[in-house]
Amino acid sequence: MNLFAISDLHVRHAANRDIVEGLRPDSDDDWLVVAGDVAEIFDDIVWALGTLNDRFAKVVWTPGNHELWTPPKDPVQLRGEERYLHLVRTLRGLGVVTPEDPYPVWQGAGGPAVIAPLFVLYDYTFRPEGTYTKEEALGVAHAAGVVATDEYLLHPDPYPGREAWCRARLAYTRSRLDRIDPALPTVLVNHFPLVREPTRILRYPEFALWCGTEATADWHVRYRATTVVYGHLHIPRTIDCDGVPHREVSLGYPREWRSRPVAPPGLCRILPGPERRR
Ligand SMILES: [Fe+2]
Ligand SMILES: [Fe+2]
Repeated sequence: MNLFAISDLHVRHAANRDIVEGLRPDSDDDWLVVAGDVAEIFDDIVWALGTLNDRFAKVVWTPGNHELWTPPKDPVQLRGEERYLHLVRTLRGLGVVTPEDPYPVWQGAGGPAVIAPLFVLYDYTFRPEGTYTKEEALGVAHAAGVVATDEYLLHPDPYPGREAWCRARLAYTRSRLDRIDPALPTVLVNHFPLVREPTRILRYPEFALWCGTEATADWHVRYRATTVVYGHLHIPRTIDCDGVPHREVSLGYPREWRSRPVAPPGLCRILPGPERRR
């Protein structure tokens, strides 16, 4: 019985869709964590998670920024929180665990552990050096020609901005995490890294603005994480923070995974340890 994880499936790309079609558990009892960026088009998201949900005993999902886009060609034109909640209702209908559901407890090898899918977005606090406000930081990013597509397609409605949505998500998520049995360790799953460290090697450092929030910097300690699972950066690796492995489990775009030494990328085993990629 294994707890596997993957993120950034980006099934708009045919080669990635093929990979999803090829993903299989090792046993009928295996769980799969999907840490966001499945796709942008609503039906693609539902197809991919439905396909995986048919194969794994449990699928746990948290949204990436791509799920939250409202692409002009998507028949589903809901924006912001409405789109997110429509995704939650649809995926929950398939049996997928979302950030709005009770956190499941892994009782297999390496457990027990609370598997907590988090959706906390970002708030522009991973700012470039020498900038102290969101406005200053965005000014530097624009001048460098680095602007995330989120600025055009990830609408924060009904919140006045993405950082306001992030603040609301942080408060909601803290209240959920605070209620977990303190005797239980956790596996924290978030699309964005919970700490800034993994963003230090970004090719375009200004892009860190769209990659997380400083408000979660101590969550791996505060909430007893044995592992933090994240994606988004498309730089799969493991970083140790305070003795807790933070594991980026992203697949990424075909041009990215084709250039890696081990291809095609597969599932990362989170529990039981030790880690392995197959
Ligand atoms: Fe991604
Ligand atoms: Fe992402």
